[in-house]
Amino acid sequence: MTTDSYLGYSDRLLRLAGDLNTKPWHASRGAVESALNGQAAEQLRALVPRTVRRAQGAFFTGSHVRAQFEDLLEDSSAFWDPACGAGDLLLAAAGKQRLGASMRDTLHIWGKSLRGGDLQSSFVQTAKIRLFLLAATRHKERGESIDIDVASGLELLKGIRVADAYGELERTRSYDGTLVLNPPFGSMQAPADCGWASGSVSQAAVISSISASKICLGQQFVAILPDVLRSGSRYARWRSSIESVIDLKTIVPYGQFDDHTDVDVFLLAGRRRRRRTVPDPSALWWPQQTSSSTIEDIFKVSVGTVVDNRDPHSGPELPFLIARDLGDLGSIETPVRSRNFAGRTYKPPFVAVRRTSRPGLRSGGNARAAGTLVTGTQEIAVDNHIIVIESRSGSIAECNQLINILNSPKTSDWLDNRIRCRHLTVGVVRSIPWSQ
Ligand SMILES: C[S@@+](CC[C@H](N)C(=O)[O-])C[C@H]1O[C@@H](n2cnc3c(N)ncnc32)[C@H](O)[C@@H]1O
Repeated sequence: MTTDSYLGYSDRLLRLAGDLNTKPWHASRGAVESALNGQAAEQLRALVPRTVRRAQGAFFTGSHVRAQFEDLLEDSSAFWDPACGAGDLLLAAAGKQRLGASMRDTLHIWGKSLRGGDLQSSFVQTAKIRLFLLAATRHKERGESIDIDVASGLELLKGIRVADAYGELERTRSYDGTLVLNPPFGSMQAPADCGWASGSVSQAAVISSISASKICLGQQFVAILPDVLRSGSRYARWRSSIESVIDLKTIVPYGQFDDHTDVDVFLLAGRRRRRRTVPDPSALWWPQQTSSSTIEDIFKVSVGTVVDNRDPHSGPELPFLIARDLGDLGSIETPVRSRNFAGRTYKPPFVAVRRTSRPGLRSGGNARAAGTLVTGTQEIAVDNHIIVIESRSGSIAECNQLINILNSPKTSDWLDNRIRCRHLTVGVVRSIPWSQ
């Protein structure tokens, strides 16, 4: 699957860049500004079918995320984006690079200091032309003329070329510059030598982990990554592996990547340090805990034990609680639905919370972890789409207090920062602050 249809856009940019030598600057300035901002991502959606974009993991960083990314970038003599797309992160990096005495001189400097690779030649070509346009803009802002034609300018940007990130990273022993990254977000089989996972894993996790280990001591690593790596329990070992080589400085939970890409992301910045073992990920990954006690101190938290389509219908007939029956009710006294089940059951009172939980959608006052009080005298079988929170003391008053905390906007905000995935985990529910 190729992205050749994107060449239509890079050809248009090429003409725009060519015109800079012949037309007055004010005639092109508006078009150049658009080309340097959200247009590359817009054109990607317009010209490349969604199936191809997904297969290639192609989602370009828009202006808003790029501005936050730029804030994290520190000065450096060199920058490398191994999956550069249309060059948005390289444009952020080039904004930090010094200008030469002339535009030709600047492109000569950038050709040495900026490195980028992508599998798609249409993206690489676009990235180079956009860097040319940025150099032109910066020189024009200084009142200088454009002393180089586009063909010669692109020729100078030798560091940006068609290349496979994995091969390039493997060939690199240590990169002496800042590594910037917004990698493809799809899945892949973990490489045989992957120390933190096996089987199917996030491609972003694999590329970021390899990239972080390939930069020289003291150099900066700045990345935009899917939020599941920051908040998912499945990626705890990935977090430790990143921290074993990167001294983390900043983690910024960002939210949805853009209006068209339903993936939550976060930004990470840190510096390469000497490799060492990190037993537990640091608290930086999550928002600071404001309360000294958490739900875990007072309640037992677990996932319901019934896997309905798999577990045999044997054993005693029991009231059976499923997520759909939680409805909007604040409490349930013994579920009406029943099922035969021989496994672990739960004795009321307890609080039931749906595991599916979408961040940021709280119109109508819906809490991310709305709790339902379950009372009654019979043991209950609970479906595994529900998180069960049992009061250690068996107190209904304590359960009601918990429901108030779970339903509060403060807890939903805390959860939005802590976990952007669409499923709550037991670990995260345990660590919700117990604040009155
Ligand atoms: C999420 S996009 C980000 C692009 C750019 N860094 C940005 O922030 O706008 C990921 C890019 O990785 C490229 N890509 C996918 N697999 C790759 C590989 N094995 N080597 C190099 N680039 C790859 C895709 O073509 C896509 O342009």
